[in-house]
Amino acid sequence: MTSPDADRLKALLPDEVAGRVQSLRLADGKASLVIDASGLSVQDRAGLEQLVAGTLEGQPGVAEVRVAVMADKPVRRILAVGSGKGGVGKSTLAANLAVALSRMGRKVGLVDADIYGPSQARLLGTEGQRPVAHESRLVPLASAFGVPVLSMANLLEPGQAIAWRGPMVAGALTKMLEGHWDNAEILVVDLPPGTGDVQLTMLQKFKPAGAVIVSTPQDLALMDATRAVELFEKSGVPVVGVVENMAGYACPHCGEVSDPFGVGGAEAAARDMGQAFLGRIPLDIAIRRESDAGRPPAAGDGPQADAFAALAAQVSDWLDSH
Ligand SMILES: Nc1ncnc2c1ncn2[C@@H]1O[C@H](COP(=O)(O)OP(=O)(O)OP(=O)(O)O)[C@@H](O)[C@H]1O
Ligand SMILES: [Mg+2]
Repeated sequence: MTSPDADRLKALLPDEVAGRVQSLRLADGKASLVIDASGLSVQDRAGLEQLVAGTLEGQPGVAEVRVAVMADKPVRRILAVGSGKGGVGKSTLAANLAVALSRMGRKVGLVDADIYGPSQARLLGTEGQRPVAHESRLVPLASAFGVPVLSMANLLEPGQAIAWRGPMVAGALTKMLEGHWDNAEILVVDLPPGTGDVQLTMLQKFKPAGAVIVSTPQDLALMDATRAVELFEKSGVPVVGVVENMAGYACPHCGEVSDPFGVGGAEAAARDMGQAFLGRIPLDIAIRRESDAGRPPAAGDGPQADAFAALAAQVSDWLDSH
């Protein structure tokens, strides 16, 4: 951006694109740009290239436009797991979704954004471990399931109470999200319930590429999930879809799933909200027992693993097409 001509060209680009321009030279009618496409999907990168070329071609003094797109950092996208109310199984879903995505060959990390009520140390069996910092950034803990993880539970002394105010919470979340995630392409973020500071920091500062909404069958009837969908949509975060958790009851003896509340209500409710339905995870004692013991069922080989694999496949497809 040395010449006034180059500056003039840069000014033609939308702000968010101009912010990514690493260099812009104009010589002999040829505009050469280097653009940082870190964090963008393959589709978005192609779109960015087209937009730049389309905007600059034909401008006075420009006979040719050359765009070099670089993404030296891996393209990393945040996938938020949220819900309208507490206790519906967000943390369980987030952990198992991360494990199932990793089993598919995706590079995944897991951030526990529930600062006041962290669950992921227990769910991924990293209780009692402490992450170290490298160059003042946290190094995620390697769990036994192919998913590195950072949780407030690993950053506090056991039994230490948290009485933090908003800015400190936002700071802790930032530290975790800006950790050494290395080659992780997806960061699954387990959100606390509601619409507090954590969600706001998250949505403003680290905008997720998509959000998975977890709901129980009862909630969908009560439209709690609608509030969650609205929170994300208002913030411009696309909703991947709705997962129905604790859907039907898996018999601990024969594994058969019965449906005391009937079937199909959740799917219809998701459709009414204009959202995709990502599937059902049954209420299954094995899910609670294994989760409590730090063995995510998605890492096993039972029907529970199949249910999480099916969910991960849908989420993976969504990521590929967005
Ligand atoms: N499909 C399931 N079958 C059986 N138990 C489940 C299932 N999903 C979650 N649970 C259990 O329900 C409880 C609540 O789940 P979890 O902690 O994942 O919910 P949450 O939405 O993250 O809660 P919070 O809002 O407090 O963060 C846990 O004991 C968990 O093991
Ligand atoms: Mg939770």
